[in-house]
Amino acid sequence: MNYAKFVGWGRYLPSLVVRNKDLVRFVDTTDDWILSRTGIKERRYSHVSTGEMGWLSAERALACAGMLASDLDVIVLGSTTPNEVCPNTASAIKNKLRANSAAAIDLNSACTSWLYGVAMISDMIKAGSIETGMVIGAERLSLGLDWNKRESCCLFGDGAGAVILTKSHTELGFIASRISCVPDSREFLAIPKWGIQPAVHTNDLHLSMNFDGAAIFKRAVKSMSLDCQFVLDRAGLTIADVDIFIPHQANIRIINAVGSKLGIDPSKTVVTIDKFGNTSAASIPISLCEALKGDVIKGGDTILIASFGAGLSCGAALLKWGTSTKNTVDTHFSIPPFQGDVRDLLADSFSYHGINYN
Ligand code: UT7
Repeated sequence: MNYAKFVGWGRYLPSLVVRNKDLVRFVDTTDDWILSRTGIKERRYSHVSTGEMGWLSAERALACAGMLASDLDVIVLGSTTPNEVCPNTASAIKNKLRANSAAAIDLNSACTSWLYGVAMISDMIKAGSIETGMVIGAERLSLGLDWNKRESCCLFGDGAGAVILTKSHTELGFIASRISCVPDSREFLAIPKWGIQPAVHTNDLHLSMNFDGAAIFKRAVKSMSLDCQFVLDRAGLTIADVDIFIPHQANIRIINAVGSKLGIDPSKTVVTIDKFGNTSAASIPISLCEALKGDVIKGGDTILIASFGAGLSCGAALLKWGTSTKNTVDTHFSIPPFQGDVRDLLADSFSYHGINYN
């Protein structure tokens, strides 16, 4: 029997930190509202593309695994905000890595893209069609936010995380997973024009997210809890067997609601939303790296993962961790930090949306 164990991990976080008190200078909101309703204190906005962020997280994952890019059979980029759709952005990352033997796949199921990708690559490794795959979650959602829509623009941040999976005969990696999609819920989170609809051909592309937070909230709690229970049942485990819970970082109240529905000890839950906001497809791999950096994960731990996103896509997995818990390894590769502040970074977007910076 084959399994797909995690052998490398890495993340990239943009240098520009945007705190709630920076945001109130161009959004009609308050630090208190954002912190109390979401748990977010600050987030990062990127000056480089999703592909660049994904590439650096990938280099770091390779260094962590002690592997060469040429060892990779497949690279999956999970993202809602690829640099470009044709050719896909995974192929740009593949070329920059010099991963000459790797296939390159872009996968978009919004915030669940990384979880969907790991579930699929794990199953390909288990089936024997590939031996080693990389799954990156990377997002630059700051370019798709409308600063007049305070219900959504305060929530998101940019970043990237990558993992490498390889064939193992020991029962490690995803020991149970489920990917799902809640029916009739597409309208609750949508970015119109972000696709090949005719409107795109006539205008400059400035995006604006449509958002019904309360509707998403309820469905997210219900569907993540159901998917978590599904994977526990499938693995023949109970919540007491779970050592660490890594949920998608969308809202601390959603995280707590799912945790209490499942009956998990809050001290087992990894929370990074305060520092990075919702980084969509990158949120779980970034949180995984943070937990490893903080020595939260121990060799042999059973980790429960749960995610949801636009669609409304959903999913959960049980991840059996191996012996290596090394901190993410830095390489000689880097991205120079952004020189400037949020006004410099978002000048075009502010001008399009008619934003005054106070
Ligand atoms: O990863 C997938 C994407 N993430 C999500 O889908 C997140 C899911 N939803 C949520 O996290 C929460 O529903 C939100 C954080 C988006 C909103 O929290 P809520 O407790 O559901 O607030 P609400 O939408 O019911 O709004 C409550 C009030 C409203 O004012 P009134 O009508 O009560 O006077 C809003 O206008 O809060 C107001 N409000 C704000 N006030 C200050 C909404 N956004 C803001 C804001 N600052 N940024």
